[in-house]
Amino acid sequence: MRVLVTGGAGFLGSHVVEMLEEAGHEPVVLDDLSSGRRERVAARIPFIEADVRDVVRLERHLEECRPDTLVHLAARHFGVRESHVDASAFEVNVSGSQSVVTAAKVAGISHVVVASSAAVYGELCGEIADESHPMQPLTPNGAAKLAVEEFLQESCRDQHMATTILRFANLYGPGSTSECESAVHAFVERISCGESPLIDGSGNQTRDFVSVRDAAVAVAAVVESRMTGTFNVGTGMETSILELSASVAEALGVVLPTPRYRPSRPNDARRSCLDGTRLFEAVGFRPATELREGLAETVTSQCSVAATSTGLS
Ligand SMILES: NC(=O)c1ccc[n+]([C@@H]2O[C@H](COP(=O)([O-])OP(=O)(O)OC[C@H]3O[C@@H](n4cnc5c(N)ncnc54)[C@H](O)[C@@H]3O)[C@@H](O)[C@H]2O)c1
Repeated sequence: MRVLVTGGAGFLGSHVVEMLEEAGHEPVVLDDLSSGRRERVAARIPFIEADVRDVVRLERHLEECRPDTLVHLAARHFGVRESHVDASAFEVNVSGSQSVVTAAKVAGISHVVVASSAAVYGELCGEIADESHPMQPLTPNGAAKLAVEEFLQESCRDQHMATTILRFANLYGPGSTSECESAVHAFVERISCGESPLIDGSGNQTRDFVSVRDAAVAVAAVVESRMTGTFNVGTGMETSILELSASVAEALGVVLPTPRYRPSRPNDARRSCLDGTRLFEAVGFRPATELREGLAETVTSQCSVAATSTGLS
């Protein structure tokens, strides 16, 4: 199958492209390289440098490339510590997604997979969030993802285009950069240099950490099966930010430096954890990587990239 991946030069996208190629598909990347990196994508993979907000160009590229499936991952990060809402991130994430869905419909693409986030749920009520958990996003990112989900459902109601929404928990793993705003990446960066991890608030807030490779396997499984619907991609395991910092130090084989505490982020959920049962029942996917194992792999990869860039390797 030919699969167009928007945001394919990003953290998750580059793993998805690799996974799709391994599974015998024909990935094509569309990315504006605003935060993505060209070198994350093998030179043999067709690459279109374009902005998802440009619906006219998008329609032209889809017409030329004629993909069977479109995986929409392109997005811009909202600055999590900023007090104002980043209007350009809203524009890319909401209007850009609307352009992608509209262009996909015009081009007659039969299956569209869209990345959403655990942030659509907001604060966890109860033990763990399944897909019927109330959606009360606390952050601009969560609100933008919810708007995209609603647009997708509304605009595809009477269409022949099958749609899948994947709500990802917190991704970590090889290939992250400081722009990814990944807690794991930031902890590895500081603790490996003997610096204190920076903890927002008490550090008792919990998140569900999923290996980016597992998340890419989930995307590939949905593409392969053409399974439609809305699915969480999570492990069902909660880890507090303080526990995470200790686990990163353990993976690095060092004593955890005394953490430095900062004020809480605005609207930071106290708990977030996703129930992935529905996706398991639909396509047989369950994250395979234990946090300890995933952190060891991340540390090895991130430290080797850092050593290469400082000429220490
Ligand atoms: N990383 C996580 O923890 C996480 C968690 C939940 C959901 N998600 C979602 O998964 C998707 C991928 O996230 P990621 O972590 O790989 O992010 P990323 O920033 O690494 O990748 C996003 C990619 O989109 C590209 N992009 C940005 N604006 C664009 C535009 N206007 N036109 C074309 N390309 C554009 C960037 O250049 C980048 O390559 C996003 O939709 C994100 O919201 C990620």
